[in-house]
Amino acid sequence: MAASALVPKSLLGAPTSATQRVVIRTDAEIGRVRPEFHGHFIEHLGSCVYGGLWVGKDSRIPNINGYRKQAVEYLKDLGVPVLRWPGGCFADDYHWRDGIGPAAKRPKRVNIHWGNYIEDGSFGTHEFIGLCRLLDAEPYLAGNVGSSTPHELRDWIEYCNYPSGSTLSDERSSNGSPEPFRVRYWGVGNESWGCGGNMRPEEYARLYRDFAVYCRDFGGTELFLVASGPSGNDTRWSRGLMDGLGWERPGGVSMHYYSGGVDRSTSFAVDHMNEQLASYAKVEESIIHQRAVLDSYENGKKVGLLLDEWGVWDNIPEEDEKRYGKLWQQSTVRSAVAAGLGLNIFNRQADKLYMCNIAQMVNVLQSLLLTDGPEGEHCVRTTTYHAFSLFKPHRSKTALRVETGDSSPLGLSVSASKSDKELAVSFVNPRHDSDLQVECTLKGSVAETGTAQILHDADWNACNSFDNPDRVVLKQQPIKANGSKIQLDLPRLSVATVILPIH
Ligand code: AHR
Repeated sequence: MAASALVPKSLLGAPTSATQRVVIRTDAEIGRVRPEFHGHFIEHLGSCVYGGLWVGKDSRIPNINGYRKQAVEYLKDLGVPVLRWPGGCFADDYHWRDGIGPAAKRPKRVNIHWGNYIEDGSFGTHEFIGLCRLLDAEPYLAGNVGSSTPHELRDWIEYCNYPSGSTLSDERSSNGSPEPFRVRYWGVGNESWGCGGNMRPEEYARLYRDFAVYCRDFGGTELFLVASGPSGNDTRWSRGLMDGLGWERPGGVSMHYYSGGVDRSTSFAVDHMNEQLASYAKVEESIIHQRAVLDSYENGKKVGLLLDEWGVWDNIPEEDEKRYGKLWQQSTVRSAVAAGLGLNIFNRQADKLYMCNIAQMVNVLQSLLLTDGPEGEHCVRTTTYHAFSLFKPHRSKTALRVETGDSSPLGLSVSASKSDKELAVSFVNPRHDSDLQVECTLKGSVAETGTAQILHDADWNACNSFDNPDRVVLKQQPIKANGSKIQLDLPRLSVATVILPIH
């Protein structure tokens, strides 16, 4: 460990200050910023679903038909383009019939992946679809390949999507949903190299083909099947998978990339923070490599690349897990900077990605919301929530090339996108020791006015807690726009988005 890691940050010394030049090429388009880059993921894990999003209809916690009201309101404000469920590892031990019909009659199973607690199935397919409808989110279901059969997945799809007249669709109707769910996105297993079956790529590819034959477009809902892809930049898995698929082409392949951290979220040492933030350069590199692997097999059909689990995974103390649930983790200024680095990457690599889902939405890992356990009434928007809201203006715009002249892992990170009349530029200063004066040159457009919002605190361990829920929030940041030049200050450890009317 370097000496500076042991030094309290108050003694690290005054930050330096530097000027950073950026060129924004509104004349050089990359591709559409799919709203799905801002997708989410929930799993039956800790207090993500039970006690987080789902408190039950009889709860004293304010709820909308069992969904925690405050959480729904915050998430609606943010906008949730797509939501993945029920896992994660849980998906390959989940049998969908356990979660339909009268809740009191649903079987009780042991959640083998996340602490052997009793899973009562009270949040099942109908409750998940109900949540998606409340949030106006596209559902993404992860099917069980590790411990199930093609038949079980095929029946789940028919149950969800066939309009009426078959035994399964009529069962859905008698369970309260005459309208089909029309679920497009189906994961065919999760992490099949690990908790989803511990397979070799060729074994999984064989199984994928067996499952895919029976996954049909019931009722005209065109399916987008997602094959279980690599952990990080494991090209051996991706090539083995694609070789084994032969002529079969999934809609997409999912990669998972967690940025590990050795410290507890709220007490990161400076060197450990820098290591974690620097790992985002590897995330970007992995997207580029994995895209190239998929493209080398293209054969007439472009396979989408999904990053359907990503985010920081810090060291989680047992006492936090005991109190709030498994993998419960605070989000700090460092986490928001990490989120900003990730979201900037997705804009810059917009032509290579199909969907990204941060892990996870509530109470687990890098969550957007935190609640104080199943009985707790508090619901707090984390720093990661605020980072996501800074990127909302990019959704559906066209990503643009930017030039910073600095590609070092902890250099200034920038992305930009435009619509006909508006330019959005996001900046992340991941340095703890350097404030930046940013001078942007616009090429291809001009802007005379603009506004900026910033998320910043010099204390990278600062967070929004139940006692102080608005400790780190968005603020206005002054900018100067003068035709082809924009200037703003970007203090150390900050994420900011500038919006400019352009012509
Ligand atoms: O998100 C937590 C776990 O991380 C998921 O269940 C699994 O897919 C991954 O390993």
